[in-house]
Amino acid sequence: MSESPIDPAVVDAVLQEFSDPETGRGLKSLDQMRKVMIDGNAVEVTIGLTTYSAPLWEDTREQLSERLRSKLANDCQIAVHVVEHVRKAEPIGGIGLTAKSVIAVGSGKGGVGKSTVAASLALGLKRAGCRVGLMDADVYGPSIPHLLGVDERPTASEKKLQPIDCDGLRVMSMGFLVPPGEAVVWRGPMLHGAITQFLRDTEWGDLDYLIIDMPPGTGDIALTLSQLLPLTGAVVVCTPQDVALLDAVKAIAMFGKVNIPMLGIVENMSYFLCPDNGKRYEIFGSGGARQKAEELGVPFLGEVPIQIPIRERGDAGNTAGNYTDQESAQYFERICYSLVKNLATQRAAKPPMPSLSVL
Ligand SMILES: Nc1ncnc2c1ncn2[C@@H]1O[C@H](COP(=O)(O)OP(=O)(O)O)[C@@H](O)[C@H]1O
Ligand SMILES: [Mg+2]
Repeated sequence: MSESPIDPAVVDAVLQEFSDPETGRGLKSLDQMRKVMIDGNAVEVTIGLTTYSAPLWEDTREQLSERLRSKLANDCQIAVHVVEHVRKAEPIGGIGLTAKSVIAVGSGKGGVGKSTVAASLALGLKRAGCRVGLMDADVYGPSIPHLLGVDERPTASEKKLQPIDCDGLRVMSMGFLVPPGEAVVWRGPMLHGAITQFLRDTEWGDLDYLIIDMPPGTGDIALTLSQLLPLTGAVVVCTPQDVALLDAVKAIAMFGKVNIPMLGIVENMSYFLCPDNGKRYEIFGSGGARQKAEELGVPFLGEVPIQIPIRERGDAGNTAGNYTDQESAQYFERICYSLVKNLATQRAAKPPMPSLSVL
């Protein structure tokens, strides 16, 4: 039998250096390298990745293939497979919540599409394969149940509230506590109590991401949340006109004040894509948010044009439909991808945490 033209040491060196997108640590040291098979001029590698990084599975697979390709002879066959690696979330904040990332979606003012973006972010991550919870903390205008077409109420079992299961997405809304159409004046302490109870008493289960639809503007809830648990960060939604951008800058400053890191800006209603002639109408001007993000050193996560079907689906409780129509899906998918990719890049840039096994 002739010797394989593939040197196992070369393959091993590539694998040794390859990081897990969730932790930024070596896949090999985390026991996520499942199988390496070298047979003649073919190498087949199976890696385990977590559902947390589900949106990056394809990227990671391609990256590893390319690294191997760059080190091996041209005629070698390379196959990389991904299987699920289970890594449970740890409890955070001492309130019985187990989630890997908690992300607040905020805006300076209402009506900019904050809830649409929050719901779409949650839906997009879930579609990619992540375990996701969506908490509607917008006490002034809880609209998540409407946008998702949820008309049930959460049930309680063993003193815990069960979130509504929306095709695998776990949803809770302040709207469940308030009869629709009824105005509630929330005072500071009451608000604090309601949000705390809401997070603590909900049986969220094991989550990769908890997305929180924040009320616009005021910092009360951001402050409460920052005291309850370590937030991964905030995403700010704005429209391109100057006034809205000023509001967005205020929202960014507000999150900064309570030490919530800024994960990025989404520009919604960037332009109108006319279904009749395919023309692009820049109703509020365009590119303002991207430019502002650059000025402020905040990542720009993407834009969503005004599309009549997005509004219609929102009204019909079918926000999920934004992912089955490529016209709208491409924009929301981009935002989900950028967010998860940025989080992974941040972790990869940090010095590795000491591994528990060596302590
Ligand atoms: N890109 C978009 N294109 C068309 N309509 C949109 C878009 N984004 C949001 N909308 C619609 O605008 C309205 C306000 O959106 P919503 O997400 O409730 O805003 P907010 O939470 O900021 O108040 C809703 O009717 C929603 O369907
Ligand atoms: Mg809203």
